[in-house]
Amino acid sequence: MTTTMEAVRLIGPGVDRVDGPLKVTGTAPYPADFGFPDMAHAALAHATVAAGRIRGIESAAAEAAPGVLAVITHRNAPHLTRGPDTPVWRQPPPPLQDDRILFYGQYVGVVVAETAEQATAAARLIEIDYEPAEPLLDLNDPRAEVVTDPWGMDAHRGDVAAGLASADITVDANYSTPDETNNPMGLFATVAAWDGDSLTVHDSTQWPHGVRAALAVAFGVPESGVRVLAPFVGGGFGAALRVWPHVLLTVLAARTAKRPVKLVLTRPEMFTGVGHRTRTVQHIRLGADRSGHLTVLDHEAKNSIAMEDDNYEPVATDSSWAYACPNVDVRDLQARLNIPYPTSMRAPGQAQGNFALESALDELSYATGVDPLELRLRNYAEIQPQLGLPWSSKALRACFEQGAERFGWHARDPRPRSMHDGSWLVGYGMAGVSFFWFQPPCQARASIRADGTAYVRSSATDIGTGTYTVMTQLSAELLGLRLDQVQFSLGDTDMPEGALEGGSGLTAALGTAVRAACRGVIQACLGTVKDDPGSPLRGCRLDEVTVADGHILHSYDPVRSESYADILARHGLDELTADGDSAPPEPQDVGMAPAGAFAARFVEVRVDPDLGLVRVARVVSAIDAGRILNEKTATSQITGGTVGGIGMALLEETVTDPGTGRITNANFGDYLVPVNADIPDLDVLFVGEPDRFNPIGVKGVGEVGLVGMAAAIANAVFHATGRRIRSLPITVDQLL
Ligand code: MOS
Repeated sequence: MTTTMEAVRLIGPGVDRVDGPLKVTGTAPYPADFGFPDMAHAALAHATVAAGRIRGIESAAAEAAPGVLAVITHRNAPHLTRGPDTPVWRQPPPPLQDDRILFYGQYVGVVVAETAEQATAAARLIEIDYEPAEPLLDLNDPRAEVVTDPWGMDAHRGDVAAGLASADITVDANYSTPDETNNPMGLFATVAAWDGDSLTVHDSTQWPHGVRAALAVAFGVPESGVRVLAPFVGGGFGAALRVWPHVLLTVLAARTAKRPVKLVLTRPEMFTGVGHRTRTVQHIRLGADRSGHLTVLDHEAKNSIAMEDDNYEPVATDSSWAYACPNVDVRDLQARLNIPYPTSMRAPGQAQGNFALESALDELSYATGVDPLELRLRNYAEIQPQLGLPWSSKALRACFEQGAERFGWHARDPRPRSMHDGSWLVGYGMAGVSFFWFQPPCQARASIRADGTAYVRSSATDIGTGTYTVMTQLSAELLGLRLDQVQFSLGDTDMPEGALEGGSGLTAALGTAVRAACRGVIQACLGTVKDDPGSPLRGCRLDEVTVADGHILHSYDPVRSESYADILARHGLDELTADGDSAPPEPQDVGMAPAGAFAARFVEVRVDPDLGLVRVARVVSAIDAGRILNEKTATSQITGGTVGGIGMALLEETVTDPGTGRITNANFGDYLVPVNADIPDLDVLFVGEPDRFNPIGVKGVGEVGLVGMAAAIANAVFHATGRRIRSLPITVDQLL
């Protein structure tokens, strides 16, 4: 079977979001919009020390407060089982299991009351007597436990020591990045209702089946009785990947109060309760010959991990395959601290690691006198150097060349402080990006209904990224229907198990499952008519047909054609349904290295030499993400990621008080993110071709748009000022 999809050009048309009207009319139901009759409300109490024990709790005043139905602390909470582990992280430890305090802001109680205001007021009345201990808060604290090679992904090639000894030119530099907070706009909410041992939960999640599994384990009930719904989620950036303590506490509150319960986190709780990007310190050593060919790449990164937690944050890992280099050593370490549980935040690990690597390459370009763009082309990895396999697709060279052309890179005077605009210093900087590949297994189901329309679904989510839209487009394409003839639904564990929306992998994973389901339902139609003398398609095989205008057609004899509606009507069927799943093969089995997206970022900055102000004036992003299903939503993804990258470079930093472990800027007044006035013209172009590893040719655009911006901006700041900033964010005080 071929569809126009399979022969189609790289870029699909930019159709509008199918869920746009629901969003702009305020009728898209987000988790906090759901309710149940007789619902109560919960609020949380937090630890005000970062380490130690609870000596005593005085909760009588809270229990006696107006409207209060229950006060739960570790003294009356039941055992909650942790788990299950996922392929990339453990779920955080369940709350209220003992008297220990592991970080500032840890939940020490939950109050259930008739109204949210009553619950909040009563939670403040819980008095806790702490026996504090000295918290570990510093990455370099020698008392902190250091976990080495946490994911077994450290990589080695050749001989770094020998390479450094014989290198013509070396770069040896330390870089650091701060804690950052994901900060989706939508405050996370959980609404839970028990019916006997059955449980219904609305939750802000990027992975409904992950929540279902964790709740079933925690409360010792069968997964089949737990239903998790998330038809709309107000952003996530990774914060909604893990199953957080507040979700368990809401479900526990509902069980204890014997009422449905709603909990909506506050903005400060979004800083301590739903993860963060961990800070890093990184050491890079590069060796090269005089013409800039890399001979050594040594990258060690240390990031932070919470007590009793595991979290996937590969910072140095991706440096091993970003460039061709014979002698390579990359190592990731994690120091265990008294901090809130981290999580993936858009481009976890790589966002920080790329800043260090691409800054170090810029330093090497000045040390060798080789233009930064030319330096990257000289070290281009034609094959995946760590696996020794050809890439499934790689158009990074085209990203570099077309991005440079569009930007006007060749007009750059290489000397620092050489370019001006009035009193402002002008700098051009660039960075390369080789994003990691990730594609989890995924399932979907497709039905053709009696009227010839389709219903396609999976329990996956759309966190604002466009899943509804691109899956509706893809289903329509694969079934030969118009967009308005396809209903695509998601975010409900009663549907086939969707992949987590993370790691830029959902479109590839879900799209492949949707493709399998759509092919399956066409196969089911052909099976229905295989012995049907009245059908022109009798005896046709799947590989002999195509689809268009609600019909299945014989590819070489299109007069032999029949509509879905006619097939179902003649056989008296209400619908035909098929399931599809996707699981990527092993790279060695198919002889290619699966490629994530690639990108080249080009940035122009203006720096006020007297005030140290940095303005980003222009950004050109050239992206190879394989097939682009919808240029409009894909461009939005890159644009949004770029804004996040500008935030990372210049503004974002979650500040922890070094004495107490309290986050001091846990609000949108003090935690700075870019506003429209900070964002210049953002030019996005897509290059490349459909990927060969993924059956629908896509590589994912969710995260690549953020990566590379921090380095490109820091490199542009160096070009403008001659000041090398190795610590993010780049602030005024560093430039004075
Ligand atoms: Mo993304 S950090 O994998 O939601």
